[in-house]
Amino acid sequence: MSIDYASRIPNNVGLDQNKQLQRALEHWQPKYIDWWRDVGPDNSSGYDVYLRTAVSVDPKGWAEFGYVKMPDYRWGIFLTPQEEGRLVNFGSNKGRPAWNEVPGELRSTLRRIIVTQGDTEPASVEQQRHLGQTCPSLYDLRNLYQVNVEEGRHLWAMVYLLHAYFGRDGREEGEALLERRSGDADKPRILGAFNEKTPDWLSFFMFTFLTDRDGKYQLAALAESGFDPLARSCKFMLTEEAHHLFVGESGIARILQRTCDVMKELKSDDPAKVRAAGAIDIPTIQRYLNFHFSVTLDLYGSEISSNAATFYSMGLKGRFDETKIGDDHVLTNAEYPLLDLVGDALVEKHANALQTLNERLRDDYIADCQAGVDRWNKIMEKAGVPARLKLAHKAFHRKIGTFAGAHVSPEGKVVSEAEWTHRSKEWLPSNDDHAFVQALMGRVAEPGKFASYIAPPPRGINNQPQDFEYVRFN
Ligand SMILES: [Fe+2]
Ligand SMILES: [Fe+2]
Repeated sequence: MSIDYASRIPNNVGLDQNKQLQRALEHWQPKYIDWWRDVGPDNSSGYDVYLRTAVSVDPKGWAEFGYVKMPDYRWGIFLTPQEEGRLVNFGSNKGRPAWNEVPGELRSTLRRIIVTQGDTEPASVEQQRHLGQTCPSLYDLRNLYQVNVEEGRHLWAMVYLLHAYFGRDGREEGEALLERRSGDADKPRILGAFNEKTPDWLSFFMFTFLTDRDGKYQLAALAESGFDPLARSCKFMLTEEAHHLFVGESGIARILQRTCDVMKELKSDDPAKVRAAGAIDIPTIQRYLNFHFSVTLDLYGSEISSNAATFYSMGLKGRFDETKIGDDHVLTNAEYPLLDLVGDALVEKHANALQTLNERLRDDYIADCQAGVDRWNKIMEKAGVPARLKLAHKAFHRKIGTFAGAHVSPEGKVVSEAEWTHRSKEWLPSNDDHAFVQALMGRVAEPGKFASYIAPPPRGINNQPQDFEYVRFN
């Protein structure tokens, strides 16, 4: 399955054999470019950026590196190869052949799933659009742009599905995806976390560690879909997503490394002294982690969800690693444990496994986040710094589901409203924290130089040297 790069839209879906579809997408393409110029990375059109571009879906060599002006990036449509004889692997259609067309009765549900996923992709580009002005290094600037162009490609992946399988409705949804705006009061993006601001690089790295990881889990659940084109799109998107998670995890790791170095130099863990030395104190990092983690947990939706049950029963959205789980993959008689808020106490209960699929995916996600936090804590351990980062309790600071509006501390203790008000500045970034982090955000754009709050990466992108000119401003 080679990629056709000669077409205006690079693809491995045989676009030149479907002129109507090709025309529809070529009609959408200039609108996409307008959107990119309008609300994509600020003032970046003329820069030459050292980017990777997908050139194959072969896991061994799918990308090529080179300088590209971002509006000329080859955004394309790539599906992983079709698996011969693939079946629907779960739900009430389990055992039937996977669908290559949309079954009529699944149409509106499937469209909604694709639109909801598609909407997050341009949203994050919009959220990150000003960050280039305050990059901590050329290396980081390039990583930001890499994430941005790939989120753009993920939008292409979803718009392709809408155009190819949903006719006129799909084309209208494709337009609407370019019209909503992150944080806009009148036409916001669909999901809450994608309307929050990403005003600084600490937020950006938390976002890519936490919120792109939600992307990983949603895509993994959709990669199990019985609707084969969706499954194959999402599988390829996951390949790109891995780099976004790397950007987040390594970004925070480098900030922590710098903080630990400064603490050792100062022989102090006093946040004020750490700040005065131009690094970010660990309590501030913890508060940012608390905020982004709790906001991202909400993306999974309510603990008990009949929508999630429907998506699963229909065979449209599976569980994480669905086919590796050893059960009946139908779940009508299975149970899953979850927490409930009863008076002042968090109490474990059991509910029907079909109704609690959101919670299960959230739990899988939390375990993955925890592994990342454990790796961060090794940095402190190695440096002899006793502080550790912790994931907040899942009931902390939630706006959706059982714990919406409840007052629960990061340790998972139900507290009074008065205590919540009094202590929330210990738990969530305050205006003062935001102002401090913002004040650190000078632009460092000289090859090999890094801002005061972040250590250099252990190795360059594609093994380039430390002082490589990842972005040429011309
Ligand atoms: Fe994405
Ligand atoms: Fe991503």
